[in-house]
Amino acid sequence: APTADFAARVLAWFDQHGRHDLPWQQDINPYRVWVSEIMLQQTQVATVLGYYQRFMSALPTVEALAAASADEVLHLWTGLGYYSRARNLHQTARIVVAEHGGEFPRAVAALAELPGIGRSTAGAIASISMGLRAPILDGNVKRVLARFLAQDGYPGEMRVAAQLWDAAERLTPHARVNHYTQAMMDLGATLCTRSKPSCLLCPLAADCQAHRLGRETDYPQPKPR
Ligand code: ADE
Repeated sequence: APTADFAARVLAWFDQHGRHDLPWQQDINPYRVWVSEIMLQQTQVATVLGYYQRFMSALPTVEALAAASADEVLHLWTGLGYYSRARNLHQTARIVVAEHGGEFPRAVAALAELPGIGRSTAGAIASISMGLRAPILDGNVKRVLARFLAQDGYPGEMRVAAQLWDAAERLTPHARVNHYTQAMMDLGATLCTRSKPSCLLCPLAADCQAHRLGRETDYPQPKPR
Protein backbone atom coordinates (compact mmCIF):
# COMPACT_ATOMS: atom_id res chain seq x y z
CA ALA A 1 0.00 0.00 0.00
CA PRO A 2 1.29 3.51 -0.73
CA THR A 3 0.92 4.59 2.89
CA ALA A 4 2.46 1.51 4.54
CA ASP A 5 6.00 2.91 4.70
CA PHE A 6 5.10 6.62 4.76
CA ALA A 7 6.57 7.18 8.23
CA ALA A 8 9.64 5.04 7.51
CA ARG A 9 10.43 7.15 4.44
CA VAL A 10 9.90 10.39 6.33
CA LEU A 11 12.14 9.22 9.18
CA ALA A 12 14.92 8.03 6.87
CA TRP A 13 14.84 11.42 5.16
CA PHE A 14 14.96 13.17 8.54
CA ASP A 15 18.01 11.16 9.65
CA GLN A 16 19.90 12.29 6.53
CA HIS A 17 18.51 15.74 5.81
CA GLY A 18 16.48 17.06 8.74
CA ARG A 19 17.68 19.64 11.26
CA HIS A 20 19.02 18.14 14.46
CA ASP A 21 20.87 21.11 15.90
CA LEU A 22 18.12 23.59 16.80
CA PRO A 23 18.25 24.91 20.37
CA TRP A 24 14.81 23.51 21.26
CA GLN A 25 16.04 20.06 20.16
CA GLN A 26 18.59 20.16 23.01
CA ASP A 27 17.68 19.51 26.66
CA ILE A 28 14.15 18.64 25.54
CA ASN A 29 11.34 19.15 28.03
CA PRO A 30 7.71 20.26 27.66
CA TYR A 31 8.49 23.85 28.67
CA ARG A 32 11.28 24.32 26.12
CA VAL A 33 9.29 22.66 23.33
CA TRP A 34 6.14 24.64 24.17
CA VAL A 35 7.93 28.01 24.03
CA SER A 36 9.59 27.06 20.72
CA GLU A 37 6.30 25.95 19.15
CA ILE A 38 4.55 29.18 20.14
CA MET A 39 7.39 31.30 18.74
CA LEU A 40 7.45 29.20 15.52
CA GLN A 41 3.69 29.48 14.95
CA GLN A 42 3.97 32.71 13.00
CA THR A 43 7.73 33.33 12.82
CA GLN A 44 10.53 31.73 10.75
CA VAL A 45 13.17 29.54 12.39
CA ALA A 46 15.99 31.99 11.54
CA THR A 47 14.22 34.83 13.36
CA VAL A 48 13.17 32.71 16.32
CA LEU A 49 16.71 31.47 17.11
CA GLY A 50 17.96 34.64 18.84
CA TYR A 51 14.71 35.36 20.64
CA TYR A 52 14.50 31.79 21.90
CA GLN A 53 18.01 31.80 23.38
CA ARG A 54 17.38 35.14 25.10
CA PHE A 55 13.98 34.02 26.43
CA MET A 56 15.34 30.75 27.81
CA SER A 57 18.31 32.45 29.48
CA ALA A 58 15.98 34.91 31.21
CA LEU A 59 13.15 32.48 32.01
CA PRO A 60 14.50 28.91 31.99
CA THR A 61 11.52 27.22 33.66
CA VAL A 62 7.75 27.44 33.70
CA GLU A 63 8.01 28.62 37.32
CA ALA A 64 10.27 31.50 36.28
CA LEU A 65 7.86 32.49 33.50
CA ALA A 66 4.87 32.30 35.84
CA ALA A 67 6.65 34.55 38.34
CA ALA A 68 7.77 37.11 35.73
CA SER A 69 5.95 40.41 35.22
CA ALA A 70 3.83 40.99 32.10
CA ASP A 71 6.30 43.77 31.23
CA GLU A 72 9.29 41.44 31.29
CA VAL A 73 7.54 38.85 29.11
CA LEU A 74 6.45 41.48 26.59
CA HIS A 75 9.96 42.93 26.55
CA LEU A 76 11.45 39.51 25.71
CA TRP A 77 8.84 39.14 22.96
CA THR A 78 9.34 42.61 21.42
CA GLY A 79 10.12 42.19 17.71
CA LEU A 80 8.46 38.78 17.31
CA GLY A 81 5.01 40.31 16.79
CA TYR A 82 1.59 38.77 17.36
CA TYR A 83 1.74 39.85 20.99
CA SER A 84 -1.31 37.85 22.04
CA ARG A 85 1.09 34.90 21.86
CA ALA A 86 3.16 36.43 24.67
CA ARG A 87 0.09 37.13 26.80
CA ASN A 88 -1.18 33.56 26.30
CA LEU A 89 2.27 32.19 27.10
CA HIS A 90 2.36 34.06 30.39
CA GLN A 91 -1.20 33.04 31.28
CA THR A 92 -0.57 29.38 30.45
CA ALA A 93 2.59 29.32 32.61
CA ARG A 94 0.57 30.64 35.54
CA ILE A 95 -2.12 27.99 34.99
CA VAL A 96 0.45 25.18 34.72
CA VAL A 97 2.05 26.28 38.00
CA ALA A 98 -1.16 27.06 39.89
CA GLU A 99 -3.37 24.21 38.64
CA HIS A 100 -1.00 21.46 37.45
CA GLY A 101 1.79 21.62 40.03
CA GLY A 102 4.25 23.00 37.49
CA GLU A 103 3.94 19.96 35.15
CA PHE A 104 2.41 20.19 31.69
CA PRO A 105 -0.56 17.82 31.40
CA ARG A 106 0.42 14.61 29.62
CA ALA A 107 -2.54 14.41 27.23
CA VAL A 108 -3.32 16.23 24.01
CA ALA A 109 -6.87 17.19 25.02
CA ALA A 110 -5.70 18.75 28.30
CA LEU A 111 -2.83 20.60 26.58
CA ALA A 112 -5.27 21.99 24.00
CA GLU A 113 -7.34 23.59 26.76
CA LEU A 114 -4.47 25.91 27.69
CA PRO A 115 -4.47 29.46 26.27
CA GLY A 116 -2.67 29.69 22.93
CA ILE A 117 -2.34 25.91 22.46
CA GLY A 118 -4.48 24.55 19.63
CA ARG A 119 -4.88 20.95 18.56
CA SER A 120 -1.76 20.91 16.38
CA THR A 121 0.51 22.67 18.88
CA ALA A 122 -0.76 20.28 21.55
CA GLY A 123 0.19 17.38 19.26
CA ALA A 124 3.65 18.83 18.69
CA ILE A 125 4.31 19.28 22.43
CA ALA A 126 2.94 15.81 23.26
CA SER A 127 4.90 14.02 20.54
CA ILE A 128 8.20 15.93 20.64
CA SER A 129 8.58 16.37 24.39
CA MET A 130 6.58 13.42 25.79
CA GLY A 131 6.81 10.79 23.06
CA LEU A 132 3.02 10.45 22.89
CA ARG A 133 1.62 9.26 19.56
CA ALA A 134 -0.18 12.49 18.71
CA PRO A 135 -0.71 13.86 15.18
CA ILE A 136 0.02 17.42 14.11
CA LEU A 137 -1.53 19.45 11.29
CA ASP A 138 0.04 22.88 11.09
CA GLY A 139 0.17 24.84 7.82
CA ASN A 140 3.25 22.99 6.55
CA VAL A 141 1.94 19.52 7.30
CA LYS A 142 -1.46 20.39 5.84
CA ARG A 143 0.28 21.14 2.55
CA VAL A 144 2.31 17.90 2.59
CA LEU A 145 -0.76 15.76 3.26
CA ALA A 146 -3.11 17.63 0.91
CA ARG A 147 -0.59 17.00 -1.88
CA PHE A 148 0.20 13.41 -0.95
CA LEU A 149 -3.51 12.56 -1.01
CA ALA A 150 -4.52 15.07 -3.73
CA GLN A 151 -7.14 16.02 -1.17
CA ASP A 152 -9.92 18.00 -2.83
CA GLY A 153 -11.61 20.91 -1.08
CA TYR A 154 -10.53 23.89 0.99
CA PRO A 155 -8.89 22.85 4.31
CA GLY A 156 -10.64 25.79 6.00
CA GLU A 157 -13.82 23.74 5.66
CA MET A 158 -14.51 21.44 8.57
CA ARG A 159 -15.19 18.37 6.42
CA VAL A 160 -11.88 18.73 4.55
CA ALA A 161 -9.92 19.49 7.73
CA ALA A 162 -11.41 16.35 9.32
CA GLN A 163 -10.15 14.23 6.41
CA LEU A 164 -6.66 15.68 6.73
CA TRP A 165 -6.67 15.11 10.51
CA ASP A 166 -7.76 11.49 9.86
CA ALA A 167 -4.84 11.03 7.49
CA ALA A 168 -2.43 12.68 9.93
CA GLU A 169 -3.63 10.30 12.65
CA ARG A 170 -3.34 7.18 10.46
CA LEU A 171 0.14 8.06 9.19
CA THR A 172 1.67 8.90 12.59
CA PRO A 173 3.97 6.04 13.63
CA HIS A 174 4.12 4.34 17.02
CA ALA A 175 7.91 4.55 17.22
CA ARG A 176 10.07 7.68 16.99
CA VAL A 177 7.04 9.95 17.01
CA ASN A 178 9.20 12.82 18.26
CA HIS A 179 11.43 12.62 15.17
CA TYR A 180 8.45 12.03 12.89
CA THR A 181 6.76 15.26 14.02
CA GLN A 182 9.92 17.29 13.55
CA ALA A 183 10.50 15.58 10.17
CA MET A 184 7.04 16.44 8.83
CA MET A 185 7.53 20.10 9.79
CA ASP A 186 10.97 20.17 8.15
CA LEU A 187 9.66 18.45 5.01
CA GLY A 188 6.88 21.02 4.63
CA ALA A 189 9.18 23.95 5.39
CA THR A 190 12.14 22.94 3.20
CA LEU A 191 10.95 20.64 0.34
CA CYS A 192 7.17 20.71 0.03
CA THR A 193 7.06 24.49 -0.20
CA ARG A 194 4.04 26.45 -1.34
CA SER A 195 5.13 27.63 -4.79
CA LYS A 196 8.28 25.63 -5.72
CA PRO A 197 8.23 22.14 -4.19
CA SER A 198 11.46 20.13 -4.60
CA CYS A 199 9.82 16.86 -5.59
CA LEU A 200 13.09 15.42 -6.93
CA LEU A 201 14.43 15.40 -3.37
CA CYS A 202 11.22 14.30 -1.67
CA PRO A 203 11.07 10.86 -0.03
CA LEU A 204 7.29 10.74 -0.68
CA ALA A 205 7.26 11.67 -4.37
CA ALA A 206 6.83 8.08 -5.65
CA ASP A 207 3.43 7.82 -3.94
CA CYS A 208 2.39 11.48 -3.93
CA GLN A 209 -0.93 11.82 -5.76
CA ALA A 210 -0.48 15.52 -6.59
CA HIS A 211 2.98 14.74 -8.03
CA ARG A 212 1.56 11.88 -10.09
CA LEU A 213 -0.94 14.32 -11.57
CA GLY A 214 1.71 17.02 -12.08
CA ARG A 215 -0.52 19.29 -10.01
CA GLU A 216 1.53 19.87 -6.84
CA THR A 217 0.79 23.58 -6.59
CA ASP A 218 -2.98 23.03 -6.97
CA TYR A 219 -2.97 21.66 -3.38
CA PRO A 220 -4.08 22.57 -0.82
CA GLN A 221 -6.99 24.04 -2.76
CA PRO A 222 -7.95 27.69 -2.10
CA LYS A 223 -11.10 29.00 -0.54
CA PRO A 224 -13.91 28.58 -3.06
CA ARG A 225 -15.41 31.84 -4.40
N1 ADE B 1 7.42 25.27 12.96
C1 ADE B 1 6.63 24.94 13.98
N2 ADE B 1 7.23 24.05 14.78
C2 ADE B 1 8.46 23.83 14.26
C3 ADE B 1 9.55 23.04 14.64
N3 ADE B 1 9.50 22.29 15.73
N4 ADE B 1 10.64 23.06 13.87
C4 ADE B 1 10.68 23.83 12.76
N5 ADE B 1 9.68 24.59 12.36
C5 ADE B 1 8.57 24.61 13.10
